[in-house]
Amino acid sequence: MSKTANQTRPPEPAPTGINSPQTVAFIGGGNMASAIIGGLLREGWSAHQLLVVEPHEPARAQLKAHFGLVAQGAAGAQLQVADMVVWAVKPQSFAQAAAAVQPWTKDALHLSVAAGIRVASIAQWLGTNRVIRTMPNTPALIGRGMTALFAPDGLLNADRLWAQQVLQASGELLWVTEEAQLDAVTALSGSGPAYVFFFLEAMTKAGEQMGLSAEQSKQLALATFDGATALAMASDESPAVLRERVTSKGGTTFAALQHLQECSVQAHFIDAMLRARDRASEMAAQFAQEPR
Ligand SMILES: NC(=O)c1ccc[n+]([C@@H]2O[C@H](COP(=O)([O-])OP(=O)(O)OC[C@H]3O[C@@H](n4cnc5c(N)ncnc54)[C@H](OP(=O)(O)O)[C@@H]3O)[C@@H](O)[C@H]2O)c1
Repeated sequence: MSKTANQTRPPEPAPTGINSPQTVAFIGGGNMASAIIGGLLREGWSAHQLLVVEPHEPARAQLKAHFGLVAQGAAGAQLQVADMVVWAVKPQSFAQAAAAVQPWTKDALHLSVAAGIRVASIAQWLGTNRVIRTMPNTPALIGRGMTALFAPDGLLNADRLWAQQVLQASGELLWVTEEAQLDAVTALSGSGPAYVFFFLEAMTKAGEQMGLSAEQSKQLALATFDGATALAMASDESPAVLRERVTSKGGTTFAALQHLQECSVQAHFIDAMLRARDRASEMAAQFAQEPR
């Protein structure tokens, strides 16, 4: 899979002399922070360039065990050296965490991975417009994530490039030009791994009903998803054309797809994703009410 950022609004070429941020501070040291930290260390960053604020002692112990990082239990003056702050707390913890971090990070670029927290809220809580909002997904944990990024107008190109440099090790990147598109991204690639797991679960259950073992069914379902996805990525044809090619009239695939069509599965699936998009938008509006 390409790790090159697909750009709907491509950053201009980096002006000479633009380097990576020297120090990146993570607020929240859970799953998503660990995914990004793991990627940075794999890319050759030093643990000395990374700071983490994580109040939960077991999470601090994991960061030490996995990455040799000594995380701090609370925000403080140590954050003053951060060129970039990565916000990896749960959305409901963001406003409170921002109040503790804000005094120390006025000059930093802020990059949020928190679902549903709008740029305007982050800018208000932190007192800066140097904010980039992103939406990753869980395959980032193994360097195979899909992350969409949004930057408000006026943000320096160098800041966009910094964000790319920090996130590219966790997978593929895609810039969107409207913040509202992040709600669609949340419904598609953010929640998407759950849809894939749902289909894998259904295929595995069907395999068992037809007399295969659970292990056999799982192997067949996983390899089929992997192979079909790789084929679609390698092909210039649309998924619809690829589907038609394996569907001979009156055959086995035809019988299955006809049943899916009679049950309006595609229409229901699209409706389900629209619901996820609407929920993302509702949550963003709700979090925007959080006091500073
Ligand atoms: N995981 C995903 O698949 C995924 C995908 C897309 C986006 N995201 C976003 O990524 C963000 C992080 O998710 P996650 O799965 O990594 O969550 P997580 O594993 O729960 O990590 C968040 C960590 O932040 C800590 N924390 C709470 N308050 C804090 C504070 N004031 N200062 C510093 N740290 C604080 C939490 O500690 P406590 O447990 O003690 O509260 C927790 O250890 C969320 O906003 C989520 O929307 C996640």
